[in-house]
Amino acid sequence: MTMKTILVTGGMGYIGSHTVVELIEKKYNVIIVDNLCNSNDKVLERINTITGVTPQFYRVDCCDKTGFEEVFKMNKIDAVIHFAGLKAVGESVAKPLMYYENNLISTLYLIELMEKYGVNNLVFSSSATVYGDPISVPIYEDFDLHVTNPYGRTKLMIEDMLRDYAKVHPEFNIALLRYFNPIGAHPSGLMGEDPNGIPNNLMPYITQVAIGKREFLGVFGNDYDTPDGTGVRDYIHVCDLAMGHVLALNKLFTDSGLVTYNLGSGKGTSVMELHDAMEKACGFKIPYKIMPRRAGDIATCYAAPDKAFKEIGFKTKFTIEDMCRDSWNWQKKNPNGYKG
Ligand code: NAD
Ligand code: UFG
Repeated sequence: MTMKTILVTGGMGYIGSHTVVELIEKKYNVIIVDNLCNSNDKVLERINTITGVTPQFYRVDCCDKTGFEEVFKMNKIDAVIHFAGLKAVGESVAKPLMYYENNLISTLYLIELMEKYGVNNLVFSSSATVYGDPISVPIYEDFDLHVTNPYGRTKLMIEDMLRDYAKVHPEFNIALLRYFNPIGAHPSGLMGEDPNGIPNNLMPYITQVAIGKREFLGVFGNDYDTPDGTGVRDYIHVCDLAMGHVLALNKLFTDSGLVTYNLGSGKGTSVMELHDAMEKACGFKIPYKIMPRRAGDIATCYAAPDKAFKEIGFKTKFTIEDMCRDSWNWQKKNPNGYKG
């Protein structure tokens, strides 16, 4: 059987790089397109150290249609996993046009090129943010969709665009994957999350406190309607998430149409529970202070992952302890991320 070729946009980023490793391990041929606006070219060496393979890499902006088209001209592509996008909620509020331009135009060009070059299989990185503040938990895929910030709106607009497109292109297969909260790192400690500047998200903030880069963790509110008053989220190990992409691809290659899956563990963990689990993983105390709530945050968010289990066999393997161990291992071995 000939190897299938998967184009991975944003493949140098946090989730993309782990998915590239998983794809190579499952014997796919991988091509990466990334403009490195939020990643580092060292990722390529790390992928090689882990897998023994260096995927073909094009430093191309998906909003540069001519440059992007070259990749389609030069390669026979079987499917695309589209991770490329900007993802910081706060930044999207401050610079909405930058988010609409980057996230929407890149996807629009991608679909046009896929149509032109007869590539009919797409996995798209959506987010649990499309559920807004859900009426109940766990969250099922058929819940109402609400978004509260420009980043979330780009995800919902792209989902809508893809649903409209799929209606008139029955030959086009799409998996919309709604990720919950990815954390953790490759167990080798060679790849992980490498945020620029002050981390927005909980886990990279905790690891930076643990490594001594930040003084304390600010816990954003302890008066939510949750068991310990702090926000509850569904954390998923990035390697489990990567595996979910390979399962979704298999579905596209064997079935037709548009499918939507939650990728989460189905379990809620509070900020304090994650903090305490990280203290255990590190073996020392991690200072924290209770702060006011962060604008726009919700109390509780976790997935019903039943549909992904039933239809593609998706089931998370890694526990919160594994996620903490691997995040800390990555941070310890790479105090400055990929920057040396
Ligand atoms: P990331 O920033 O680490 O990776 C995104 C990659 O895309 C980066 O390498 C960046 O350089 C690249 N990129 C961005 N715009 C590009 C463009 N126009 N052309 C080419 N490359 C471009 O982010 P991540 O955490 O790996 O997230 C991947 C995807 O998953 C994103 O679409 C994000 O919105 C989505 N997502 C992430 C989370 C999360 O918590 N990390 C949750 C839900 C959904
Ligand atoms: N939190 C803190 N202190 C911090 C950072 C976060 O207490 O320094 C709390 C938040 O208030 C929240 C929880 O930790 O209760 C998780 O916050 P994150 O910022 O890590 O994650 P969110 O659930 O807010 O958002 C993430 C992504 C979004 C995505 C959403 C749903 O950042 O892009 O998950 O997938 F849309």
